[in-house]
Amino acid sequence: MSCICVVSPKGGVGKTTLTANLALAIQQFGLKVSAVDLDSQNALRLHFGLPLAQRGGIASLATTGADWKSALLETDSGIALLPFGTTSRAERQRFNDAILHSDLLSRNLKAIADAPDAILLADLPPGDSAALQAVEALSPVYCVVLMPDSASLSVLPELESGDFLPPAAESRRFFILNLMDLRHHLAQDITQYLRQRLGPRLLGTVHRDEALPEALAAQQPLRLYSPGSAALVDFEHLAQNLYRWLLASQGAESGTSG
Ligand SMILES: Nc1ncnc2c1ncn2[C@@H]1O[C@H](COP(=O)(O)OP(=O)(O)OP(=O)(O)O)[C@@H](O)[C@H]1O
Ligand SMILES: [Mg+2]
Repeated sequence: MSCICVVSPKGGVGKTTLTANLALAIQQFGLKVSAVDLDSQNALRLHFGLPLAQRGGIASLATTGADWKSALLETDSGIALLPFGTTSRAERQRFNDAILHSDLLSRNLKAIADAPDAILLADLPPGDSAALQAVEALSPVYCVVLMPDSASLSVLPELESGDFLPPAAESRRFFILNLMDLRHHLAQDITQYLRQRLGPRLLGTVHRDEALPEALAAQQPLRLYSPGSAALVDFEHLAQNLYRWLLASQGAESGTSG
């Protein structure tokens, strides 16, 4: 099993959008893809066409002992989705306590995706969170989302000092630059600077593409809504880069163990 966590010290940079679209792009390699929403905003489900009235999810299961597989939903896309659920403040508190002080999260996510061809993508809340701390037990690959603005530049020291993600995760950490709009000089300059500073750790870039919010509003996958869109090509490149890296790292692991 491989676990990919989409994270960022910043909010609103496109984590949920990237989680959903990367899941769809990775599925094309014939993998068994699951997506889990670890953010109480419960927004990932909107990318998979779940009705707003749909309430079930993992957060309300935290204290019931029920396994998370029972909350797994098959979506039209073929991706198995674990929504966070619509929750009360008390439920969110209990969920955070449970994942911080037990193996609830790692045990359940391992059980869901325990096959060699299984891949699990997790959408995390912005900034530090109980979920961010709990997922490290899965030794995930982190995709850190930034955008070409000065607020993203300002969090680079926090990212590089090992304050946001644990130092042990450094070899599993990649960056994605989203909302690229090269019509603006500032965005061009920041993109160029980030390319140099992040080097090979920059997994790829995604253009600002209005087809993305439009596809979401139309409740259609981007591939159907706008087959020629720039963002779709970007997601395919990202998925290829990620999949190549996962295969190489699994090969290296089996080489070491064998
Ligand atoms: N590449 C893009 N092009 C155009 N719009 C985008 C792109 N990526 C994201 N958006 C839009 O930006 C907004 C924020 O995206 P999203 O909700 O995915 O961010 P987020 O990082 O998950 O936010 P939060 O921190 O609140 O969880 C949404 O309206 C989304 O449609
Ligand atoms: Mg989000």
